[in-house]
Parts: sequence; C-alpha cells; structure tokens
Amino acid sequence: MLDEIKKIEQSAKEALKNTQNLDDFERVRIEFLGRKGALSLLLRALKDLPEHERRTMGGLANRLRHDLEELFFEKEKILKHSIIEDSLKKEWIDITRPGIRRARGHQHPLSIIRGEIEDIFQQLGFSTIEGPEVEEEFYNFDALNVPKNHPARDLQDTFWIKSPSSKRILLRTHTSPVQIRYMRTHNPPFRIIAPGRVFRHEATDASHEFQFYQIEGLMVGRRGEAGGEISVANFKGIMAEFFRRFFKSHDLKVQLRPAYFPFVEPGFEMYISCRACNGKGCSICKRSGWIEILGAGMVHQNVFKASGYNPTEVRGFAFGMAIDRLAMMKYKIPDIRLFHSGDMRFLKQF
Ligand code: PHE
Repeated sequence: MLDEIKKIEQSAKEALKNTQNLDDFERVRIEFLGRKGALSLLLRALKDLPEHERRTMGGLANRLRHDLEELFFEKEKILKHSIIEDSLKKEWIDITRPGIRRARGHQHPLSIIRGEIEDIFQQLGFSTIEGPEVEEEFYNFDALNVPKNHPARDLQDTFWIKSPSSKRILLRTHTSPVQIRYMRTHNPPFRIIAPGRVFRHEATDASHEFQFYQIEGLMVGRRGEAGGEISVANFKGIMAEFFRRFFKSHDLKVQLRPAYFPFVEPGFEMYISCRACNGKGCSICKRSGWIEILGAGMVHQNVFKASGYNPTEVRGFAFGMAIDRLAMMKYKIPDIRLFHSGDMRFLKQF
C-alpha cells in the first residue's frame, strides 16, 4: 500500500509537470483526482486493510490528496495566467504606429461651390429646384419672350437635337427655362434657385466652355400682399447679402448697370467690387475695380403671361449667374477648362 501511495505521488507530480495547457491539465486532474481516479480507488481500497494499517495508510493517503489538490490548484493558476500573457503578447497593438490612410474620393470644386451657394440661399429663404438639361425650344426661348427669328435668339448659340416630334428640342442654353416650368405649376409668393448645367455652341478659351453651370434665381410676390411688391431694391439687397456671405467680405459692394435680356424689364448686369484688389483697380478687373457677375432684372410681363399668371397681380425679379465663374474667383482658378480636364493635379487641390 505504501508503495502504491508513493507511486501515485510520483506519477501525479511527473504528469503535472509535463502539462502544457488546460486540456492536458484537466485530463491529468481526472486521472488522479477524479471520482474514478487513482486516488479515489486507493481510498476505496483502504476498507479492506486491517484496522491499524488502515489508520496509518488512511492518514498518508489523505495527506497525499491534500498535497496534490494544492499542487493542481497552483498549476491551474500558472496555466491560466500564461494563456492571458500569450494572448496579450499576440494581440499587442502599437498605438503609436502611423495608420494606413484610406484612399477617399471628394467633391468636385464645382459641387463644393454649388453646395455653398445653395446653403446661403437657403438661409435667405430660397428653395432649390431643378429642371431638365434637354429642353424644349418653347421653355428655353418662346416662353421667355425671345421672339422667333429675332436676332436675340442668336445671343446664345444653341446645340439643337434631332427630334422625331413636332417640338423642337435643344440642350438648354441657360437655366431660365426652369422659371417657366416652376411658375406653370406653382403660385406666388415664392423664392427659388435652380442650379444646373447649360450648353452653348461656341469656341472654348480660358474663360469660355461649351458647357458650364448656372444658378437661376426667381422671387415672385403678389402685389397688395405684405412684402409682395418685389422691387429692384429687394433684389439688390438680397444679392449684396449673398455675395458678402459667399466671399466672406463685409465691405463688398454691388452695382447695377442696365443691360438687355428679353425676359426681364428693366434688365441689368450686376457688378461686385473686385475680389483681387477690393475695388482699387488691378489687371483682373482691368483697372475698373468692378467685376461683372450676373444678369438679372424684373420679370417681364410676357413671361408672367406665358406662365399663366395675370401680370398685373404679380411682381418679381430673376437672375442668372455662372457657378464656374464664382468658383474661379473664389479659388483663383485661371482657366475654366480645368474643371472638365480630369487632371488629378488640379482636382486633388480641393
Ligand atoms: N439667362 C441669362 C443668361 O444666361 C441670365 C439671366 C437670368 C438674365 C435671369 C436675367 C434674368 O445670360
């Protein structure tokens, strides 16, 4: 019996020493300390011994069980600890190492500027709407009071589209047709802007493209209603506020000069004090201190009529400006053709 006890003690210690992981450990534990393990069998065999031997052997066997339990407990602690150590080592992250920057796209400069313009007009109470790029001659010219076979139609060189229908189809030469589409389906008072692409059949150079972007504006009120008598002063005030916010310049000045557009009466061009020299005169503004920025005017009676309004009851202003030009001024871009060049050296700067 004594040999038996020593043998168990030795082999248990040996097995425990060779245990590398928790699975091994559990197997060895069951082998020696389990309900049917070596030690249990030994203890069960005690009852067959004679009285005096049973006492001494019982004492020794129980000591051994106590000792082994302690050894196993210690070993389990060591194993569990080393598992945590291992995974800490494996999963260690160097938080000071520079990250890998994801390649991300970004907005085109024209989209950025268009978004800024829309935001400012939204603050001024204007909603944004859109119209089609492929347009009917009626909306692009007729309804805008551009007489048929009148030289005014040649003011804007047109891309015509072959059409099987009786309607003549074109690529819109300006965003003004959106005025008509909107007024035919809505009643005043309202203030809207209509951004979008326009097309002109003309030679390109540093300041001309055959496609560019415009923002149309239209504010119409009902005469006799509070605030409904829309005037040139309203127009000038709103646009001055717009340009001050857009160019972030409180001392920006605006100026109106008479101009002809068939769909407005009176018509103007708006000038702003030159952003490059702040009105002092430089090469960009040709020493004048002023830059022409948009076309505008009070909506012509014939345009109201073509939209189904009674021209004696309503009054409003309209304007149209090129987004490309605003972007060029804000970012100091020297050539309009860069926008559609696809040149990454240009695009990556925004
Ligand atoms: N549609 C005109 C252009 O493209 C601009 C404009 C819009 C002028 C509205 C007056 C009123 O040149």
